[in-house]
Amino acid sequence: MATKNLQELLDEGVDGRHILVRSDFNVPLDDDGNITDAGRIDASLPTLQALIDGGAKVIVMAHLGRPKGEVNPKYSLAPVAEALSERLGQFVALAGDVSGEDAHERANGLTEGEIMLVENVRFDPRETSKDEAEREEFAAELAALAADNGAFVSDGFGVVHRAQTSVYDVAKKLPAYAGFLVDKEVETLSRVKDAPEHPYVVVLGGSKVSDKLGVIEALAEKADRVIIGGGMCYTFLAAQGHNVQNSLLQEDMVDTCKELMEKYGEKLLLPVDVAAAPEFDKDAEKKIVGLDEIPEGWMGLDIGPETAEKYAEAIKNSKTVFWNGPMGVFEFPNFADGTKAVAEAMIAATRDNDSFTVVGGGDSAASVRTLGLDEDGFSHISTGGGASLELIEGKDLPGVSVLSA
Ligand code: 3PG
Repeated sequence: MATKNLQELLDEGVDGRHILVRSDFNVPLDDDGNITDAGRIDASLPTLQALIDGGAKVIVMAHLGRPKGEVNPKYSLAPVAEALSERLGQFVALAGDVSGEDAHERANGLTEGEIMLVENVRFDPRETSKDEAEREEFAAELAALAADNGAFVSDGFGVVHRAQTSVYDVAKKLPAYAGFLVDKEVETLSRVKDAPEHPYVVVLGGSKVSDKLGVIEALAEKADRVIIGGGMCYTFLAAQGHNVQNSLLQEDMVDTCKELMEKYGEKLLLPVDVAAAPEFDKDAEKKIVGLDEIPEGWMGLDIGPETAEKYAEAIKNSKTVFWNGPMGVFEFPNFADGTKAVAEAMIAATRDNDSFTVVGGGDSAASVRTLGLDEDGFSHISTGGGASLELIEGKDLPGVSVLSA
């Protein structure tokens, strides 16, 4: 069965109907609980606004962080409710629970065009439970919020790779539709997965090689170049025989990195220099050094300028780029140059070489905004981290496939 999308639901009419929406509001917060990057909230607005304009009674579900099935005020959706209220220009109430009395009373009290949030779905252990019966029970409680002629709209693209209750099980309880964001993300990322124009360059960063192993394997077959940066590049450099000193290192992955380098040879681009620091600190001293020159006890916190130039060159000559993971600790302005160089090269490739450039991943997307780069300079900035990677790798996304089940 083909997936139904939000436009079809709007054409059917939503006036006066309870519509249950799953969004991804898993946004970064600072120590005072302020949202530091609201990209995911902004990306959810077209779906929410369309439902509001159609006169729906909108109930939104989302998670924040990993509270592990316990109520924890640190992970409350309160800052999200506030940010949504500001952006939508109308009050967004936050229920005091997820699927309990307060959520139900508030849902029943909604009038046409009103919108509310239930609390963090991960406050309930049944959200992520492996026990199907538990998830089933929770799904029934959530679906009951939209009882009588209600519908479910899946719009939390960043979480569709999780077979969790509010993403997956609830979709079986109500007529289910893909929201505008899920639709757009799937369409755009599928273009990179199924028909990338060559040269196709994949840029990978992030701290752990083990997290990216599947991606490297899956994408190195299809891509012309796989560029490696971020914390994980030091395990590759160690596999080349360099002493990476105190840089991030996954000892148990060194042999795997050797195998990858043997298998993919020149296709893998690795750093030729690094920006090193004596400690992990925003004000740490910075030295640009060759691979065998990291001072004793220091650590690499960014790729070096020669590496950045080499990476930028490959990106500028591409016709397709998929980027996941920063090249260094971009949150420290002194160590943001590598990430900036990659992002700027992508913007140049889009503009000058008609390249199809996609930023995938929470951190990479956040870095584009933090570094003040032009978001419109890329073909697409995904809201998905793991979800966009899994789609590109060709894995099944339960939260998407359930919509056509
Ligand atoms: C994300 O931030 O990638 C999504 O919101 C999923 O969050 P999770 O990795 O905690 O499931």
